Amino acid sequence: MSKLTMEELVAYCKQTGFVYQGSEIYGGLANSWDYGPLGVELKNNIKKAWWKRFVQENPYNIGLDSAILMNKEVWVASGHVGGFSDPLIDCKECNTRYRADKLIEEFTNGKETGDNWENERLLKFIYDNNIVCPNCGKLNYTEIRKFNLMFKTNQGVIEDAKNTVYLRPETAQGIFVNFKNAQRTSRRKVPFGICQVGKSFRNEITPGNFIFRTREFEQMELEFFCKPGTEIEWFKYWKDYCAKFLKDLGLKDEDVHLRDHEKDELSFYSNATTDIEFRFPWGFGELWGIASRTNYDLTQHQNHSKANLEYVDPDDNSRYIPYVVEPSVGVERLLLSIMFSSYDKEKLENDEREVLRLHPFLAPYKVAVFPLIKKYHSDKALEVYNMLSKDLMVTYDDAGNIGKRYRRMDAIGTPFCVTIDDDSLNNNTVTVRFRDSMEQVVVNINELTNFISEKVKF
Ligand code: GAP
Repeated sequence: MSKLTMEELVAYCKQTGFVYQGSEIYGGLANSWDYGPLGVELKNNIKKAWWKRFVQENPYNIGLDSAILMNKEVWVASGHVGGFSDPLIDCKECNTRYRADKLIEEFTNGKETGDNWENERLLKFIYDNNIVCPNCGKLNYTEIRKFNLMFKTNQGVIEDAKNTVYLRPETAQGIFVNFKNAQRTSRRKVPFGICQVGKSFRNEITPGNFIFRTREFEQMELEFFCKPGTEIEWFKYWKDYCAKFLKDLGLKDEDVHLRDHEKDELSFYSNATTDIEFRFPWGFGELWGIASRTNYDLTQHQNHSKANLEYVDPDDNSRYIPYVVEPSVGVERLLLSIMFSSYDKEKLENDEREVLRLHPFLAPYKVAVFPLIKKYHSDKALEVYNMLSKDLMVTYDDAGNIGKRYRRMDAIGTPFCVTIDDDSLNNNTVTVRFRDSMEQVVVNINELTNFISEKVKF
């Protein structure tokens, strides 16, 4: 359980340089966030860890980077133009706007999610259960309307329906439309997967909870193509794989649980879906969606584009449209989970320290270099800084006493602090102090890069 409330985390992120309010000097833009010097490093490291585990180390997967703007027919085929909408409801008394399914989810503490319910069922549940407006306490709502979540714009100088383009609401469709290209050029046999990391945009009705639900976010998605009939086996494989990834990043077992979707909650094309949920301060919430999507997406694209998306199995010449298992996670939502689970306030003998126990691979700075006495040790410290910075993200701090410098680094998750003192000048050694145990060891400067590099691997 996190030691921080959401308000405390927002303040901490701003003060340390992880996340700022977007367009702040103009009064901000609702629900937009900018990532500061530490935030951009953490975000990049999360994406690197995911890419390493899902592309570099996994024998089945390859990578892709497709365009954000795509032919609008892609979104007709995928069902987003017709059906990517949220059920919108307004309170007639105070005009506050809600997502009807979220009203139900919050009222029932997550027991009912309202996912995939028809409007009539949502409205009936709200009235039957007397779910009053959280703002004014009245039970007087409008009908439920569907609100499409895609941001629409125009490509080129003329604004008309012919050149409408959408900002992609997920990266997945860029993978589906490249299925044949990627399979052919990489000479992959099914089963194999394609991974992509990139920005997605959704005009969410009720964004909020800091960076949990925003209108602009990044996704890390895998579309895994397999033979029909093997998808449930692969679905289990990827569930375990994702859960292990989170554990290896340092999320605690008690803060993570897997929730299988009930039959009436499944999308019509899915034969199994599980959410990996994280314990946020307001309760468990979806972190990672894993869905077995049958052959729905490729069939839709084959029908709409008229391109043949069948796979011919070279082993037995059978032809089929592959089934797909899709694990999809948001970078910012994972970052939020990591911040909540890493932050600690530790009682020391005569003191208390703020410490961000990030996995060293994720830490914005791997190492901080301190000259013990500025006047005497700065030249050598800069030499060590320059040496380390060839391989590692390093920071330098010569302000205040060493104890204060340690505290500053603990609070931003720097796993190693290196102090340069007289022994560095005389014996070419430094003191390395560990963030978590606060232990110190002496290391020769010639071995320092290797010593730290070994410890920050993922
Ligand atoms: N291609 C499947 C797909 O996009 P999704 O459940 O809508 O599925 C997958 O999204 C993941 O993307 C979510 O589990 C969440 O981590 C992240 N995500 C979705 N909408 C988001 C939003 N508005 N803000 C931040 N992250 C979001």
